Amino acid sequence: MKRIGVLTSGGDAPGMNAAIRAVTRKAIAEGMEVFGVRHGYAGLITGDLVRLGTRDVGGIIGRGGTILGSTRSPEFMTEPGRQKALSTLKTQGLEGLIVIGGNGSQAGAHALSQQGFPVVGVASTIDNDLYGSEITIGVDTALNIALEAIDRLKTTASSHQRAFLVEVMGRHCGYLALMAGIAGGAEVIAIPEVSSDPEWIASELRAAYDRGKSHAIGVVAEGAKYKAAEIAAHFQDHHQRIGFELRVTTLGHVQRGGAPGAYDRLLATRLGAAAVDAIRRGQFDVLAGLLKGEITMTSLSETAEMKKPLDLRMVELARILAR
Ligand code: F6P
Repeated sequence: MKRIGVLTSGGDAPGMNAAIRAVTRKAIAEGMEVFGVRHGYAGLITGDLVRLGTRDVGGIIGRGGTILGSTRSPEFMTEPGRQKALSTLKTQGLEGLIVIGGNGSQAGAHALSQQGFPVVGVASTIDNDLYGSEITIGVDTALNIALEAIDRLKTTASSHQRAFLVEVMGRHCGYLALMAGIAGGAEVIAIPEVSSDPEWIASELRAAYDRGKSHAIGVVAEGAKYKAAEIAAHFQDHHQRIGFELRVTTLGHVQRGGAPGAYDRLLATRLGAAAVDAIRRGQFDVLAGLLKGEITMTSLSETAEMKKPLDLRMVELARILAR
């Protein structure tokens, strides 16, 4: 294979640039030409491609976001959209494609593979909800950002005897909330995988108050049944039931921004290089991910069909440790 493309798709994640750099330099070292597709699948549809040389990816390993840009492309979800993308791949003479992204992006990669085009995925999403990789690019950095916010909020919460509900990202998966909550010593954690309601959250915060704590932290996943603001609204005029005054901080996209940490740079570098190796040996329709500490290729059809389970033992542990 002589000419390949690389794109980033879906929500960006710290470390995507390190993966682009690894793909580019490793592929060039293997004698291939590399083209970056701008703005994810949307750029594949419109033919927005740029040739990448080794110097073009210089200085990006520590930069957040993605130099190629990323979108969620509704057009690519349609058959005519995918046909346009395939036509770009053909007219540009590309013989393989590496897709760096999460669930939706890898479903798109599988769809292209099913049309007979050679594609390899690289596991990247801060949500850590992608089957085929126990940890994905961006998770560690996003977790550390959430943790820093929790640590900072704790100090001001203590000064004012307040409880804070901190909302972290994760539309369908509570991984970030659960891990940030455990690492941040939260009193209560609300995630989509476990049913919870405002009364239960209030009772946990109240219990912390009754134990004499100077503050309490609740971590709420964006995809939990009740969002942090809804829980707070529930107790707007009844703060005395919680004991503490209640405040809400929603971290939102702050978690996706900024420089990737060492873990994400290294993971992205290994997965990007492994994706090129897979292309070189003719292994397609697979996702490069990390399983049991080893770089592993999982079939994209399995990735599309299977849901990655959250380790519910950690939910129990979080409860025990929140005393
Ligand atoms: O999938 C990653 C993620 O950051 C989710 O946690 C979040 O729900 C979503 O993307 C936000 O998407 P957007 O950037 O399109 O608002």
